[in-house]
Amino acid sequence: MPGILAISGSPSPTSRTARVLAHLADRLADAGEHEVTTIGVRDLPAEALISADVHHPAITAVAGAVAAADGIIIATPVYKAAYSGVLKALLDLLPQYALAGKTVLPLATGGTVAHVLAIDYALRPVLTSMGAAHVVPGYFLLDSLIGTAPDGGLALADTAQAGLDTVVAGFLAGLPVTV
Ligand SMILES: Cc1cc2nc3c(=O)[nH]c(=O)nc-3n(C[C@H](O)[C@H](O)[C@H](O)COP(=O)(O)O)c2cc1C
Repeated sequence: MPGILAISGSPSPTSRTARVLAHLADRLADAGEHEVTTIGVRDLPAEALISADVHHPAITAVAGAVAAADGIIIATPVYKAAYSGVLKALLDLLPQYALAGKTVLPLATGGTVAHVLAIDYALRPVLTSMGAAHVVPGYFLLDSLIGTAPDGGLALADTAQAGLDTVVAGFLAGLPVTV
């Protein structure tokens, strides 16, 4: 079964990005066709991230999960017109070509459509430099479209859900064929 690793790059304890990613991961896992694993950068040891401790067990575990995955979803909040610093701190600790052979779906949440292109001018070049086989078209979600349902679950505006569905379909179609 192809493996998908979903990485949230938000440092927030109430992260919209992480909630959207968890929603997506649940849907993919429920479909039963992929083995889905989720990692939150904010759950990694800060000391290892800021001291570039590539040998920390938590960091080597992430590197192992990346190596084992066929497809990787990387979701980040837009911070200062780019991706989050903690996401970069993690990516910096991975091997230069950690994404070689992987299909990667970049996602971002942000407060203004003025920064809708942050995925393409900021995140995509980094992912490409790490050897990703395919960085498929990504998706930017306005934070105002991400809400909470009465049952406490995620409530996404229909347009946002439809946009996500489209890019996820492209991502799944672009996954390497596994036997
Ligand atoms: C420090 C900081 C910087 C931000 N900078 C931007 C920005 O430059 N452009 C933008 O569209 N949104 C910006 N935002 C808004 C966030 O991207 C947006 O609210 C996002 O959904 C937060 O995701 P999170 O809840 O997963 O952390 C910023 C938010 C913070 C806290």
